[in-house]
Amino acid sequence: MYHITTILGIIFLSLTNIVHANVEKTIFLAPPAATLPSEEPGLDDLGLERLSPENHVVRTRLNASFPSTETPEGVDSWFFLENLKPGQRYEVRVCWLATQPTSFTLTTHSLTATIEDKSLFSPLSIFSTSRLTALDADLQANAIPRRASGYTSGGLSPDAALSTDSVLFLRVQAAADYFSHNASLMKNVPPVSVDLILDPFLWNVFPRSLVPTAIWIVIVAVVAGFVAKWVGGEIGRIIEGARAEREKGEEVEDKKDQ
Ligand SMILES: *[C@@H]1O[C@H](CO)[C@@H](O)[C@H](O)[C@H]1NC(C)=O
Ligand SMILES: *[C@@H]1O[C@H](CO)[C@@H](O)[C@H](O)[C@H]1NC(C)=O
Repeated sequence: MYHITTILGIIFLSLTNIVHANVEKTIFLAPPAATLPSEEPGLDDLGLERLSPENHVVRTRLNASFPSTETPEGVDSWFFLENLKPGQRYEVRVCWLATQPTSFTLTTHSLTATIEDKSLFSPLSIFSTSRLTALDADLQANAIPRRASGYTSGGLSPDAALSTDSVLFLRVQAAADYFSHNASLMKNVPPVSVDLILDPFLWNVFPRSLVPTAIWIVIVAVVAGFVAKWVGGEIGRIIEGARAEREKGEEVEDKKDQ
């Protein structure tokens, strides 16, 4: 037993040395498929980056700020989650470097809730506007292309352009979480480099991307078990051997202990 814990301990230590990133996440169930408004230039014109099971990683830079009374959670960034499987459990993780201490708040919101709730819609519009006025080249580089079905409606009737999809808005709030003697760092918070990862759960219980890690841990545990058993057996044999030697020497004197 002792051997297994030692070996596992060493392996976990070496794993934690590899991981220098922080993670924050939100877990949610995909909503039922809803009909997306057909006259919607709206959704595409928001200029949000999209995450879907097919494009499940976005690497980007998010603006952050120190928490204030108006923005206790920091600066808003918005993303669009699409092509979800209704009823499926997912998580979205944000991973960032420990060298950029930031506290993230992730929430998901349905289309209708976002549009009807002013406290959601106004930060979304502000984010969308500043993203659209940002450099076009940036936007092009980051934007995930719309699925063909939405746009190639040239010859089709307006009805055919209607699409149903399970979609959500993802709101990421980033608040700087550091103190520095560098005045310029305290005044202007540099943008935080992040990876956003959309990960479905297997059987709605286990994040799919963690499966290789889990398999690895099981293999290590099994191998460690065998090694521990073998080492235990060897040590037992050596002790037995030593005792036999000693007893051979003493056997003339005394045999009643056997
Ligand atoms: C991020 O901050 C920069 C500098 O303040 C600003 O120009 C840009 O519009 C912001 N981007 C978003 C999406 O808010
Ligand atoms: C303060 O931070 C900025 C941005 O990281 C850096 O360019 C500058 O050299 C720093 N100033 C000092 C005095 O360390």
